[in-house]
Parts: sequence; C-alpha cells; structure tokens
Amino acid sequence: MPLPKAELHLHIEGTLEPELAFALAARNGVTLPYADADALRRAYLFEDLQSFLDLYYGLMAVLRTEDDFAALAEAYLERAAGQGVRHAEIFFDPQAHTARGVAIGTVVEGLSRALDHAEERHGVSTRLIMCFLRDEPAESAMATLEAAKPYLHRITAVGLDSAEAGHPPSKFREVYEAAAALGLRKVAHAGEEGPPAYIREALDLLGVERVDHGLRCMEDAELVERLVRERIPLTLCPLSNVRLRAVDTLEDHPLARMMDAGLLCTVNSDDPAYFGGYVGDTFHAVHEALALDDERLRELARNSFEASFLDDDEERRARLIAEVEAYEFEKPE
Ligand code: HPA
Ligand code: ZN
Repeated sequence: MPLPKAELHLHIEGTLEPELAFALAARNGVTLPYADADALRRAYLFEDLQSFLDLYYGLMAVLRTEDDFAALAEAYLERAAGQGVRHAEIFFDPQAHTARGVAIGTVVEGLSRALDHAEERHGVSTRLIMCFLRDEPAESAMATLEAAKPYLHRITAVGLDSAEAGHPPSKFREVYEAAAALGLRKVAHAGEEGPPAYIREALDLLGVERVDHGLRCMEDAELVERLVRERIPLTLCPLSNVRLRAVDTLEDHPLARMMDAGLLCTVNSDDPAYFGGYVGDTFHAVHEALALDDERLRELARNSFEASFLDDDEERRARLIAEVEAYEFEKPE
C-alpha cells in the first residue's frame, strides 16, 4: 500500500497522456502534428517553461466536449489513487479553452462529472482551483472570473500560472481582490522562473495562502525566514523543475535543504504526463536522488494534508494525517 498523500499542484491539462490525446483527436476530428503517441512523447524535450507551454497549449486542441474533460479527470484520478493520493486540489486553465471556443461550463461540468464520484470510486476527495493565465491581460482574467460565477459552488480557489517572467503578481491585484470577495481562496505560481520578489508580491499584494513552486525563495534568506515563520506552504514539483531546467538534475534539487531550513514543503507532480511521473513516482524519485529517509517522506505526506484546503472537513484531514502517522514503510530486503 502506498503512503497516503494529498496532491496540491496538479494541472489537469498536464495529465493528458499521448494515448488519450490521440484517442480524443480521432473522436473530435482533430489532426495532430505528430505521427503517433510515441512520436509525441519523443517531442517532450523542453528547454524552459515557455517551450513546454507552447507544446502543452497546442495539444489542448483535442479537448472539446464535457465527455473529454470527464475522461481526462477520470484517468488522472485512477492513476493518482493507485499512487496513494487521497485528496487532490486540481488546477484548470479556463482561458486555454475559452480561447478555442470551448465554454467554461463545458470544462467545469465535464471535470465535475469525474470529481463528483471520485471519493466513492477512488477514495480521493477533490477541490478545483481555477487558474488565470498570467501572460494574458488582467482584463481577461477578470472576465474569466465573471464567466465562472455560475460555477463557483464547484470552485475552491483561484491560482495564477503560465509564463512567469515579466508577468508579476501585481498585475492581478484587482482580480484577486474580486475573487476573495466572492469567497474564493488564493494561491499563485511564484518563484518558479520568476525572482524572489514575485513570491513577496504574491504574499503581500495578492494575499495567497500557499505558493506554487516558490523554489527561488532560496536566493533570499529573509524571505525564507518569513515563509518559515508564517508557515506558508510551498507546492514543489521536483520532476517539473528538472524537465523545465530550473535545476540541472534531481540530485541538485534544493528540496532537502528547504526542509532543513524549516519550510513547509509539499511534493507534487505539476504536469505528470509531460514530466516523467505522477506524485507517487515523484516521492520515489526524491527518496532515491536526495536520500530522503522514510521519516522525511512521512513529513512531506503530513505537510500535504496540513497545507490542503480541507478546512471544511477537519475530520477527514485528521483521519488522513493519522493514516500517515501510522503508515508502515516496507523494510528493504
Ligand atoms: N508553471 C506555469 N504554468 C504552468 C505550469 C508551470 O509549471 N504547468 C502548467 N502550466
Ligand atoms: Zn504548475
């Protein structure tokens, strides 16, 4: 049995496996510029965040109907459950779909069809986090928030993703104020490729409760001290950082140093279909590459539930943390 964990940094569009992409392309009459799933997978050699995003948004052309979004989420939930995920807070990018003529309702209703029975079918509780594309104008984010109003009962929080450099959190201050006024919670990607100053802005100007990635806080000792003191969770994605060249190799990843510094770290998969593993695979990889022992892995799992938006179900949070505490790691032969 795998270690129970929550996944807090997961883009549902990033779970689109090449085989499913080709199946959906055939069903929807979309032609992909790759011969087959293997050829597509061979194209997954990224230079940086932008080179990934170009391919990633292009492949979303295959997602058109509620059925497609339901199939995407169902495939993720099944795989995640198999790797010990018991709670998932799932990002989606409405603007990546509305820009192609797919209504936000199609996206939310389609995803919800899978999420609504995830607990019963897979033992995974879920929340949805609506992300704004930071390289689009703030007005577009505001229009997206407006368009989401009929679906707010299904959405827990807002987030900020896509190309970070040159698009500071300050650009979205009003949008985040409006989101908070609607009762939404707040997270944002910051400090993946952007500087530590973007992490400060996310905290001070947007009022985020968690920072997605936050890796580059390590360049700013005062900021680290603050993140520790305020117990701001960071949703780290080590395999993503390697594939998008934020770090050279997994062995160079600062996760262990960040935990030593007292930061509230969680480990997540980001876009598992593209970056070589789901969250259980990621735990396994950091265990091997960074020599994190069983108690460190237990700490990461505990952190994932502590940092989750399970505030409306403290009983479930407590039960899951108790399962983490009682978990018996397999003894090596
Ligand atoms: N960063 C920014 N935007 C993204 C990412 C990421 O790691 N994954 C999917 N969209
Ligand atoms: Zn991300």
